[in-house]
Amino acid sequence: MAGKFYITTPIYYVNDKPHIGHAYTTILADVLARYHRAAGEDVFYLTGLDEHGQKVQQAAEERGVDPKQHCDDMAPQFLELWEKLHIQNDDFIRTTEGRHVKVVQDILQTVYDAGDIYEDEYEGLYSVSEERFITEKEAESGDFRDIKKLKEKNYFFKMSSYQQALIEHINNNPNFIQPEHRKNEVLGFLRKPLGDLCISRPKSRLNWGIDLPFDTNYVTYVWFDALINYVTATGFRVDNDSYTKWWPVDYHLIGKDILTTHAVYWPTMLLSAKMPLPKSIFAHGWWLMGESKMSKSLGNVVDPLDLIEEYGVDPVRYYLMREMVLGQDASFTMESFIRRYNSDLANDFGNLLSRVSKLIEKNFDSVVPEPGENTDAENLIQNAAEKVVESIHKLIEEMKIHDALEETLQFIRGVNKYMEQQAPWKLVKEDKSAAGRVLYTAAEALRIGTLLLEPVMPHRTEIVLETLSVSKRELNWGGLNAGIKLKQHPPLFPRIDVKKEKIEKKEKFIDYEDVEKLGLKTAEILAVKKVEGSDKLYKLQVKMGNEERQIVSGIADHYTSEELIGKMVVVVSNLESATIRGVESKGMLLATSRKKDLSLIIVDGDKVASGKKVY
Ligand code: MSP
Repeated sequence: MAGKFYITTPIYYVNDKPHIGHAYTTILADVLARYHRAAGEDVFYLTGLDEHGQKVQQAAEERGVDPKQHCDDMAPQFLELWEKLHIQNDDFIRTTEGRHVKVVQDILQTVYDAGDIYEDEYEGLYSVSEERFITEKEAESGDFRDIKKLKEKNYFFKMSSYQQALIEHINNNPNFIQPEHRKNEVLGFLRKPLGDLCISRPKSRLNWGIDLPFDTNYVTYVWFDALINYVTATGFRVDNDSYTKWWPVDYHLIGKDILTTHAVYWPTMLLSAKMPLPKSIFAHGWWLMGESKMSKSLGNVVDPLDLIEEYGVDPVRYYLMREMVLGQDASFTMESFIRRYNSDLANDFGNLLSRVSKLIEKNFDSVVPEPGENTDAENLIQNAAEKVVESIHKLIEEMKIHDALEETLQFIRGVNKYMEQQAPWKLVKEDKSAAGRVLYTAAEALRIGTLLLEPVMPHRTEIVLETLSVSKRELNWGGLNAGIKLKQHPPLFPRIDVKKEKIEKKEKFIDYEDVEKLGLKTAEILAVKKVEGSDKLYKLQVKMGNEERQIVSGIADHYTSEELIGKMVVVVSNLESATIRGVESKGMLLATSRKKDLSLIIVDGDKVASGKKVY
C-alpha cells in the first residue's frame, strides 16, 4: 500500500435517526481508512448527510418544523453517534452547505451547456398523497389515494447517450463495480436501452432542494444533488490541487439498494461533465434481524447506542466486521453477538493478555524477559506472525475484512496453544530462561496480533499496547523491548454471563408482537362515577372509535371526575373482561404508576381521534 486513499460512505437521509445499517457502513469505512493510514498512506475519509428532497421535507412536516431546522436538529445525532463509535472521518458534508450548492449548480450548468439536459413534458398517473408519479400497476393495487393524470414539464438528463461508454468502462475496468455479482447485475440492467433521467422537480410540488441554475421554477432531483457531494468535498472548483489529489475516489462504499444510482446515474453524470470516474464502487449486503428485513414499520431496527452502552464500542465494531461477508447479507442476533464476544474476544484475545501479563508479573517481577535463542517452537510462532502480517495486508486490499479478522484470531489461538504446550508456569521451576523465552515470544506475538486488530478495535487494543509500552506501530518480529516493565491493566473483555443475560433479556426485551397484543388504543372519557362501596374505584365510560366500553379504574384518589371527563387517554384494550366489586370492566388505563404519584397518559385530543392504535 502506498500513496493516497480516498474513501466515502453514502450520505444518510436525515428523515430518521441513525440505526445499525448506517453505523455499519460508517464503521466499515473507518476500519479501511485506519488500515490504510497505519500503512502510511495519505487518507481522506468522507461521510455526511443527504438533506434535500421529499423524504426529508415530509419528516420535517411531520415534526412541524421547517426543513432546514429539521436537518440542523438531526445532524448532531449522527455526529454524536460517530464520535461514540470512534469514527475518524476527515470531513462531514451536509448537502445544504453553500460549498455543495455551488458545485451542484456548477455541474448542472456544465451538463446543460454540453447539450445534455433538455426540457420535456411528461404525462402520467400522479398520486397526490404520495407526491410522485406512479405506474399503472401501482395505481391498480389500490394502495394509492388521490390519483390523477398529470402533465408536467421537467428537465431530463441524456443518460442514454452514455450507455455505450459506460458499458465499455465497466468491461475495461474489472474493479469498477464490486463484488463481481453486482457488476453482472449492472451489466444486465444495461442490456436494455437506458432511459433519460428526470432531474428536476417543479417548485409547486417540492421546494426543498437546490434551484436549477437555468430555471429557478425548479429544484434539482435529490439524487443528482446528493451524488455530487463526493466531488464537492475534494475542493472541486475551489482548490484545484486538492481536487486533483483526491479525485477520482478509491472506494465508494454503498449498500446494495443504491447500486443503480451509484453505478449508472453517477458515472454517466461524470462522463457528461468530462470528469474521471470513481476507481471502485463496492456494494455490501444488508443486515437482517434474524431472518427478516430490518425496518422501521416492523419495529425491529437495532439502535447501535443500546448495544455500545451495554457491551462497549469495540466489541460492536468487531462483531459487525467479523460477521458480515462483504457483499452478502448478514443476520444480526444477540445470541451470535454474545457467542462471538465470548469466544473470540474474551477466550482468545483477552485470555492471552491476562495469561502473559500474570505470568510475567509473578515470575519476572513484571519485567519482560530476554528472548534468548529460538527453538523450533518459537520459530513456528515467528513464521506464523510474519505470514499473518503479509496476509492481512493482502486481504484488506481485497476487502476481505472478515477473513482478515479470522486469520488474526487463528494466529492468536495458535499462540494460546503454544502457551499450553510449553506451560511456562511449570517450566519456570526447572529452567527460568526457557520460561522467559516462551513468555517473550507470547508477548511479542500478542503485540503483533494487537496491532493487526487495532483498526477494528482502536480503544481496547490501546489497553494492550499500553501494558506492553508499545509506542511505535512496528510490525516486524522483535519489536517488543525486553527489560521493560509491564503496566497494570483492566480485564480486556470480561466474559458475558449467558445465563444472566438470558434472564435479563427476558425481563428487558419483549417482541414487537407482544406490544401489538396489548391492543393499546386512544379512548375518550365520556362519563365517570364512583363504584359503590369503594373510595378508590371509578367506573368509567369510554369511547374508542365506534365502540363504547366500561372500565373500572383505581384512580379516584388522583383525579376528580371533572378532571377526567373529555380527556383522551390510552387503554389496554385486549384484556379479558373482569368483574371488580360486582362491576364489569373491559380494559385498563395506561398510567405512570399504580399508586403513588400516579398520572394517566393523556393524549392530545386535538391531534388524534379516539380508537387510534398506539405504538
Ligand atoms: N441518501 C441516500 C444515499 C445517497 S449517497 C449519495 C440513502 N440514504 S439512507 O440513509 O437511506 O441509506 C444509506 C445507506 O444505509 C444505504 O447504503 C443502505 O444500503 C444502508 N442501509 C440501510 N439499512 C441497512 C441495513 N439494514 N443493513 C445494511 N445497510 C443498510 O440511501
